[in-house]
Amino acid sequence: MIIVRKFQPEDFSSVIEIEKKVFDEHDPFYYMKFYETCSEGFLVAEFDGIVAGFVVGYRVSEKTGRIFSLAVNPEYQNLGIGGALLNEIMRLLRENKVYEVVLEVRQSNTRAKRFYERYGFYVAGISERYYNDGENAYLMKIRLRY
Ligand SMILES: CC(C)(COP(=O)(O)OP(=O)(O)OC[C@H]1O[C@@H](n2cnc3c(N)ncnc32)[C@H](O)[C@@H]1OP(=O)(O)O)[C@@H](O)C(=O)NCCC(=O)NCCS
Repeated sequence: MIIVRKFQPEDFSSVIEIEKKVFDEHDPFYYMKFYETCSEGFLVAEFDGIVAGFVVGYRVSEKTGRIFSLAVNPEYQNLGIGGALLNEIMRLLRENKVYEVVLEVRQSNTRAKRFYERYGFYVAGISERYYNDGENAYLMKIRLRY
């Protein structure tokens, strides 16, 4: 069973473990900062009581929300956890009345791109050399209606 709930400081080591497994670039400092500055939009997913994924999303301007990071432990992927996290963060961003949500995905990350496209995101542009290793990012966007 999947439960999505707010991040708690006790989840920190699980989040960092997942982050290390799935991202080429990682920095625990960011996650401490998120907890301090946008804890409303820092969520974890438990699968049978184990923290298996997390998402961080927040409002960056009056109209725009941003998903900074979404990750699921590889051992728990394809079980619907990523979808559950995305649905919940989108619900929270809708509550904040944003009109669009943006995010970046590595150009090589076809799986994540397809995942977001299934939820209605589209490629709105390219952010050149967005990552430290020089790779470009797709800037993906979804418009929300009320
Ligand atoms: C992208 C990511 C978050 C998706 O997480 P996930 O938990 O595997 O996502 P879901 O299980 O909801 O959906 C993944 C696939 O499983 C399928 N699926 C969903 N629920 C399922 C279920 N109950 N049984 C079988 N398959 C299922 C979906 O159809 C989906 O198919 P797709 O790959 O064709 O899109 C995950 O792959 C990940 O962490 N990747 C590395 C980090 C990353 O790239 N993050 C995004 C950039 S910030």
